[in-house]
Amino acid sequence: MNAFLQNKKTLKKCKIYTMLSSSKKHLSFHTPGHKVGKWDLTELSFSDNLSAPKGCIREAEEDITAILESEKSFLLTDGSTAGVLSMLYAIKLLGAKKLAFPVHSHKSVYNGCALLGLTPVTFDLSVTDDGIPTQVAKKDVLPALEQADALLLTSPDYYGNIPDLKDLQSICKTQSKFLLIDGAHGGHLHFEKTLYAGAYADFWVDGVHKNLPAFTQGAVVSTKKKDYVSALQTAVDVFRTTSPSYPIMASVEYAVKFPRNEALEFAVKEFSKKHPDFVRLQEDWTKLCILFGKDAFEIEKRLEEQGIYAEFCDGNLILFYLSPATKKGDFKRLCAVLEKEFARLGKPSVQLVPTPTVFKKIPENAVVEWVTPKDGIGRVCARAFGLFPPCIPLVRVGEIITKEKIELLENAPNVFGLREQKIGVLKEEEL
Ligand SMILES: Cc1ncc(COP(=O)(O)O)c(C=O)c1O
Repeated sequence: MNAFLQNKKTLKKCKIYTMLSSSKKHLSFHTPGHKVGKWDLTELSFSDNLSAPKGCIREAEEDITAILESEKSFLLTDGSTAGVLSMLYAIKLLGAKKLAFPVHSHKSVYNGCALLGLTPVTFDLSVTDDGIPTQVAKKDVLPALEQADALLLTSPDYYGNIPDLKDLQSICKTQSKFLLIDGAHGGHLHFEKTLYAGAYADFWVDGVHKNLPAFTQGAVVSTKKKDYVSALQTAVDVFRTTSPSYPIMASVEYAVKFPRNEALEFAVKEFSKKHPDFVRLQEDWTKLCILFGKDAFEIEKRLEEQGIYAEFCDGNLILFYLSPATKKGDFKRLCAVLEKEFARLGKPSVQLVPTPTVFKKIPENAVVEWVTPKDGIGRVCARAFGLFPPCIPLVRVGEIITKEKIELLENAPNVFGLREQKIGVLKEEEL
């Protein structure tokens, strides 16, 4: 644990870590099966219980609630996925039937709607000249929201964009509709309230394992309103595991209490200003987007040979994911290596993949045929697929699959939505 949770000052404030570190190594005749009897524990007489906390976990949740300025925050060890599903279930319990959200939303939003019987009302986003998906525009939100009971936004998105949260909050308020924010990439923003989901949303998720130093799967889901606490409690009871990992729980508390790193934030912004041709830093400083255009995949490989691994490459940009725990020396090394690439390239040559606008409504019981990506070109997509990460559908259900998108898919190291390397298309006779 100590190799990961290194900030001693922060650890001193952490209730779950203190319980774990002071627990005595014992003979374990309880789960888990590794029988080590320390750190990775189960619910014992001294270790509290996430599903009905009254000891150190309760104190940790109370501290998190205070830091995030929510009415109630729930600790999650099942990723932001569980947080998104819980938000959706909570609004369903509160009467919502239809949810408006942008098409670039994470697959958990689509899955949550399907699972809970919420009708999705999706709307499109545009792409900048550099090929970066933009945030939602009011003109697209309004007609979708008219048909829905709630709006779900992703803020920040994977590229670090933040929408006009104040304006969108006021629209939802005027129309008495719920505002949900998937902040899987925004846990660190509680330091900067004007950008933070919790300052605007009725329900929001903080994915603290992505941009704060929590173990993978650490997250928090919160609500701002007293009247919604009971629905959210019911929802997390459904979607949380009954065997939450103690190391993850301890790390979530540690991550939320981790201090801001203003020196790094400053260094990132300075680097961005110095290289305007290549760096595309949006509102969120933790997503260092570098525009490499058609050279992106090749440069990604070259960096990996030098031991530098980015979060993802979308065939146009490479995204380097930072956090307050990023070491100054590591960032300096990254900058030096990138500067060599900038000097070699001179200027990036942007490569845009056109997004087809042809959509066909697919009935839920339509017959799906699984074909090789190449054989899928020109067919209608029946199962969304894309690059993993960012886990945003590259081709959506109903879209005609293009050659450019298949080329992008075939270049990516990791993908989602495929079965045995095949993509799901609509069977020809269903057309
Ligand atoms: C926007 C967004 N929402 C939700 C999730 C799900 O988060 P997790 O992997 O922690 O379950 C992700 C994961 O990448 C994401 O990008």
